[in-house]
Amino acid sequence: LIKEKNQIKKLNFIDLVDEIEKKSTQTTLFIIDENIEKNYQLKALLESRLQSNSKRAITWIAKPGEPTKTLNEVERCCEFFLSQQITRQSVVFTIGGGATSDFGGFIASLLLRGLSWNSIPTSLLSMVDAALGGKVGVNSTQAKNLIGAFHSPDQVYLCCDFLKTLPSEERISGNGEILKYCFLDSSISELVLTDQREETILACLNFKKKIVDLDPFEANQRKILNLGHTLGHCLERMYALPHGVAVAWGIFLLLTIENNQSLLKKLKEFALKLDLDLKATPWGSHKLDLKILESLLKMDKKMTSTDEIDLILASDLGEIKIEKRKLDHLMNQLHEFNHDLG
Ligand code: GLY
Repeated sequence: LIKEKNQIKKLNFIDLVDEIEKKSTQTTLFIIDENIEKNYQLKALLESRLQSNSKRAITWIAKPGEPTKTLNEVERCCEFFLSQQITRQSVVFTIGGGATSDFGGFIASLLLRGLSWNSIPTSLLSMVDAALGGKVGVNSTQAKNLIGAFHSPDQVYLCCDFLKTLPSEERISGNGEILKYCFLDSSISELVLTDQREETILACLNFKKKIVDLDPFEANQRKILNLGHTLGHCLERMYALPHGVAVAWGIFLLLTIENNQSLLKKLKEFALKLDLDLKATPWGSHKLDLKILESLLKMDKKMTSTDEIDLILASDLGEIKIEKRKLDHLMNQLHEFNHDLG
């Protein structure tokens, strides 16, 4: 019997502990982001609740954000759990942003060759993207997310109450990924334009689930979820931008080099609604450093050979295609962009 993965359940914070208890097994492993633990003290709450039901809770507090995503932390965390008599029936819960679910989902994929896990995203970025779909892993010194696995969570719990303590720069970063969904699905763009916040988040998650269920290992359609990411990842590294903000600029750059004026107009409308400032460019009064950009492009997981990349293109809202683009062609387009910067 194959268990359905990536199921979505929306709930309030007050129901969360009950839900976790329902899903817990004799030994339940929690991986909680340190900042979330400071704000919500979930470790003591979960441990006492499970203990009162004669169950065991074992908790790993993960370093906040990207610093947890190293092989060194993976080893420390695996050794910790393995010293606590876990079994294949043990289930993992991650509670935190995208770094926590990337790291914790990877830990779940490794322990005893794979444990079931559930994801509780607490940042906007992870609610609309990272928590669902099973792309888990850590960073290499070469680039982000190069060491990992596909290991989908059974359940993603969407609890928007966590957003109340989210710093505003992280809210804006999450909005960058929501901007991407506006291009993937016109009904999501409607929700954004009519300020339906929680409905928007749920719709993004449901859209991603639909795609991931069709193509869990990114053989084809799932690539559309990377709209704006090819150039976005380069800009993220070059200008130290928050991920979602880099995706927004990646979409801007893509539409500009493709000369899609009508979608650029839509981009501005969505950006305004989503509090994304697209006036002050990350490159300021400088040109893009295309040597660095090209070397970063070459490390993209969407390179299909040494000189070709799968580029995700939007011709209209919801009209997305995946095109094999010669790196030389893409670089020429970027040279023209640089030339037009004056
Ligand atoms: N973040 C894109 C994906 O999960 O496929």
